[in-house]
Amino acid sequence: MTDQITLRRPDDWHLHLRDGAMLAAVLPETTRHFARAIIMPNLVPPVVTSADAIAYKSRIMAALPDGTDFTPLMTLYLTEETDADDVAAAHASGLISAVKLYPAGATTNSASGVSDFDKVRGVLERMAEIDLPLCVHGEVTDADIDIFDREAVFIDRVLDPIRRKTPGLRVIMEHITTADGVDYVQSADRDLAATITTHHLIINRNHILVGGIKPHYYCLPVAKRESHRLALRAAATSGDTRFFLGTDSAPHTDANKLSACGCAGCFTATNTMPILVHVFEEEGALDRLEGFTSLHGPAFYRLPVNETTITLTKCAPSPTPEKLITNEGDVTIFDPGFDLLWQVTS
Ligand code: DOR
Ligand code: ZN
Repeated sequence: MTDQITLRRPDDWHLHLRDGAMLAAVLPETTRHFARAIIMPNLVPPVVTSADAIAYKSRIMAALPDGTDFTPLMTLYLTEETDADDVAAAHASGLISAVKLYPAGATTNSASGVSDFDKVRGVLERMAEIDLPLCVHGEVTDADIDIFDREAVFIDRVLDPIRRKTPGLRVIMEHITTADGVDYVQSADRDLAATITTHHLIINRNHILVGGIKPHYYCLPVAKRESHRLALRAAATSGDTRFFLGTDSAPHTDANKLSACGCAGCFTATNTMPILVHVFEEEGALDRLEGFTSLHGPAFYRLPVNETTITLTKCAPSPTPEKLITNEGDVTIFDPGFDLLWQVTS
């Protein structure tokens, strides 16, 4: 029986750090375990230009606990007004690692996102030329499309046409939640990968709705039925290099979650690694965990793997910590519904 596992230090290929007091509180929760993270640009206002990204990166660096070795991999928020030259310059200088596409209205702070995908063609073509990846929030926002179908419809109506029209554009379908997403990624022979969150490996839509509404399990894309969760688990633990970890750890204060119109997001930075070891152990795939957390992402982003390691050790069953206290208010830490059996020991 394995009771200790050492991995190359993991990276988080999709993370919300926010700003100000929230940034200061959540950043150490990630840097404790992760070496790098792709930083989401959906601030208010969003990180649209290279000047915005320079300023945000310096705020993140200033908030880092002393002596922390962590690299924020910055992204720009794609709008219909985005300037392709500014994107190319940000890429050439090493400032950004990707551009993020939010369909307008799809999720938290996405009002400045894209409605008319033809208007961003020029930027996407330039990105293909310079080999800058596109991170995609893959949901349509049409009112007539059921929220549980939005990912599958996005693939057909938006993503596949974009990929066909823009050969060479490398795309990361972020936080996939469906077997359709898994199948689409597996059907592509190149230039397509997907991130999978911690929480979508654990919850299905029943967890949100059965026995009373559970706002802390509400996120976007919303968790789907059990068969989809099982497809995600199979993909994550398969060893297929096209799937890797992007936690989408998305802190909101309890006041903003526990509201008549509660915010979408699960905060998983604190306990992602113990939960993932648990999942991979259940699936008999502990030997594939390092690929998912530490190898496949750098390969797709064409970055070196981390040279340092972390070690997790089996421990007495312990409940997940409940809250992260911040100066903006308490943030509830994702509850996987089971005691943690692993802890990060070095
Ligand atoms: O659940 C989510 N929360 N999904 C997103 O796409 C955005 C995120 C956030 O920023 O809170
Ligand atoms: Zn996100």
